[in-house]
Amino acid sequence: MQPVKNYWQKKYMKIYSVALNIHDHNSYDGVFHNQVERYSRKKHNIPWHVDAYPWQPDHLNIDDGKYSQKFYDEHFNFDRSDVLAFTTTVGGMKHLSRHEVPRDFLKFKPKTLWDYKFENNLYYIDHHQSHAIYAKFSSGFEESDILAIDGRGLHYNCLFFDKNGKITNLSDRMGIGILWDNLAKHYGLGKLGAGKLMGLAGYGGYVDEVHAFLDYYFDQQFRYAEYSLDLQTIRSIKNIRKEDVAYTLQHVTEERIAEYIHPLKSCDNICIAGGVAYNGYMNEAFTKLYSNVHVPPAPGDEGQSLGTYMHADFTLNKNVHVPGTYGGKEYDFDLGDPITPQEVGEAIAKGKIIGWFNGRSESGNRALGNRSILADPRSPAIKDVINHTIKMREDFRPFAPAVMEDHYKEYFDTNQPSPYMSRIMPVKSDKIPGVTHVDGTARIQTVNRKQNEKFYEVIEAFYKTTGIPMVLNTSFNCKEPIVETPEDALRTFDNTKLNMVVINGRCVSKVW
Ligand SMILES: [Fe+2]
Repeated sequence: MQPVKNYWQKKYMKIYSVALNIHDHNSYDGVFHNQVERYSRKKHNIPWHVDAYPWQPDHLNIDDGKYSQKFYDEHFNFDRSDVLAFTTTVGGMKHLSRHEVPRDFLKFKPKTLWDYKFENNLYYIDHHQSHAIYAKFSSGFEESDILAIDGRGLHYNCLFFDKNGKITNLSDRMGIGILWDNLAKHYGLGKLGAGKLMGLAGYGGYVDEVHAFLDYYFDQQFRYAEYSLDLQTIRSIKNIRKEDVAYTLQHVTEERIAEYIHPLKSCDNICIAGGVAYNGYMNEAFTKLYSNVHVPPAPGDEGQSLGTYMHADFTLNKNVHVPGTYGGKEYDFDLGDPITPQEVGEAIAKGKIIGWFNGRSESGNRALGNRSILADPRSPAIKDVINHTIKMREDFRPFAPAVMEDHYKEYFDTNQPSPYMSRIMPVKSDKIPGVTHVDGTARIQTVNRKQNEKFYEVIEAFYKTTGIPMVLNTSFNCKEPIVETPEDALRTFDNTKLNMVVINGRCVSKVW
């Protein structure tokens, strides 16, 4: 590890961190990960609305939707005894710049992973350092390369950190994230619809004209730092199916990764974070080059406060803090009848679709087993049933399996576990059509008993009943952020065709 400059500070510093992003605004105190969307109930905090920003209502001016003076008084107060660690994005900076936050913080550009700016108990790192340190410290790797890649942070969109933390800035070559976002928006898939566009890639094929169009776009980025899509040029691909555009974009994404990232390899482990780390095909491709690939459970901007906290804690307290996977609040619930994980697994085997709510919510957008919709992966019709009657979303969107870690290699062609649903690989069996995408792939989550005992027992019971060691697992929500409270879960139950909801071991059921 890099030596830290903490000679001025002997005592333990209490740290509170905040990521002032334009979306996925979140904070962390070392235990509780507050993703504002879980409480505002506005997905990614879009539209960027007054009540989607703060963690206290009076932290905003209601009339203009900007942070209030109270917010700054409390959090950017030079007399504070604890440390406020923060980072921001281009969008977040617009808000900061109207207030008293020292501007020179925002000019800070790191040379290595370990650099930072610390004055008067305000601790600042760059957006991409936050992605990087969260990925690295949560991996448990002794040494690691790190790729931090997204649509846009503050100064960068792609930084590579070698095993010593040395930075290579590839922002003028690897503006891939913004391209996915822009094309998704162009096709009406929403402002942050890159994941949906990736789902469409499975239905498409390679087209030369699209490759030429994308080459032109990357050339514009490199020469002129021009990141928006030129509508004039987009017309050149207007007659090509969006599925083929998506497929070719995926192809080009992996091609550029191979051209610009692979040569920088400095060891046999890699951590990946930033919005582009949601690209499961890209992540799987890294398993061909690296023995160990780690993508943390909150790889996008929703993990920014975690990384910022971890960086400050390492620098100031010489502590490597690893956040728990389950960083939300605990809720009491005493309605309904007790039900065991075994009974839940057996109900899934009988075809029931279940809303599964257990303990604290997960950090991040991946369904990790505490806020999940669970169903039978053997059913060919299950995808349409869930898309049309529960999730109310586009019918091309695939579903993923949560598979017992002891069995994943029997069904999926990959060489390492995937605990956070971050990689997409070929399916080797025809017994699980409900979780096999149209291109013959699946985005798996491997589960062991230590990770999440109750969730593992549900899958194990399904395995004992059916011989199939996995269940279909998708996030527990319907057109909203993932449910946070029991009330959110019950509302979703009422509004959808879920057969049963299980909250902390108690069953509420419509049909049983
Ligand atoms: Fe980011």
